[in-house]
Amino acid sequence: VALRHHFHAHPELSWKEVQTTQKIVETLKSYGFKEEDLRVGFGGTSSGVIADINKDVDGPCIALRGDIDALPIVEENDVSYKSQNEGVMHACGHDAHNALLLGAAKVLMSMKDELPGHVRLLFQPAEEHGIKAGANIMIKEGALEGVDAIYGQHVWASVPSGKIQYKIGPFMASADGFELKIQGKGGHGSAPQYSVDPTIAAANFVFNLQTIISREIDPQDTVVMSIGKLQAGSAFNIIPDKVGINGTIRTFNPEVRNSLPDRMQRIVDGLCTMTRCTADFEYQKMIPTTINDEEVELIAKDVAEDIFGADNVEESPLIMGGEDFAFYQEKIPGGFCFVGIGNPDKGTDNPHHSPHFNVDDEVLWKGVATYAGVAWKYLVSHK
Ligand code: NI
Repeated sequence: VALRHHFHAHPELSWKEVQTTQKIVETLKSYGFKEEDLRVGFGGTSSGVIADINKDVDGPCIALRGDIDALPIVEENDVSYKSQNEGVMHACGHDAHNALLLGAAKVLMSMKDELPGHVRLLFQPAEEHGIKAGANIMIKEGALEGVDAIYGQHVWASVPSGKIQYKIGPFMASADGFELKIQGKGGHGSAPQYSVDPTIAAANFVFNLQTIISREIDPQDTVVMSIGKLQAGSAFNIIPDKVGINGTIRTFNPEVRNSLPDRMQRIVDGLCTMTRCTADFEYQKMIPTTINDEEVELIAKDVAEDIFGADNVEESPLIMGGEDFAFYQEKIPGGFCFVGIGNPDKGTDNPHHSPHFNVDDEVLWKGVATYAGVAWKYLVSHK
């Protein structure tokens, strides 16, 4: 809890987790980690730590991952450990993940002679970054070399405090973006015949985009396309020269996801023909779907049931939010669970990324126990 409060009070944005990283290193050393057990700094920054327990022991290797970055939000909680870094806030619970993984590091280090294998702890920067996602960079820089499986978890505000949620197969959506620039020919609002109006193409694009979901995709597959930014024009009587549109796209089925850029481009091309505009469309692949491996996820479920009782473990619905943990799962079997922190009496049920988001400290031990328990059980069942 003290570590969680420390990280909460000193939040740092993606790829700027420098003090955070120093605190992790210092804490790990106090638990008995040696310099040669640690790798510090990823993506050309000083952010992020890989810590190994028993790296020279013959046997299976499981990685545990916790993300450590904060968000550009002004905190509105009135707590003693309120953010001291103006405009930056741990509003997604990554302060907790960091503390939980340190807790697991302490537990696992204390029993390292009994562990029948190797545990790798990934203190991952920049989960929130999107384009330069921390998981992707850490993988490119060797985080999964020699690793057989990976487990991660997220504290989750819409899950009641103390409950653990799991799901086998697709769990959290892919999260992509797009940018569309429509070029017309600006002119006087009174004389459309001398202009090519890009707002007509833009308006049609907004509507037609949704027909991909309603008329082209299998209704049993889920896709969300939302436009978050639409910018055109400068005055009421001017036909604008161009329109810019940005949006986000979420889905669970990788085949559906891969089909979307061409479908969207086709609509853009058709609208250009129809309206005489030209357009530049870019689909930005960001985060893949979080797909939980059955074996690893069932280990997590069993561990949670053993420690907390079956009443406290339930299946999660599909979640439309994205999680860069998915990059690890593209490479090796991985499981991801939620640790419920939602308690309306404590105000810990506010949505993630809200300025009022907070974590129920009384359930942190469950996150530590699950991390450590999964590592133990995985190693024992694969030795
Ligand atoms: Ni998060």
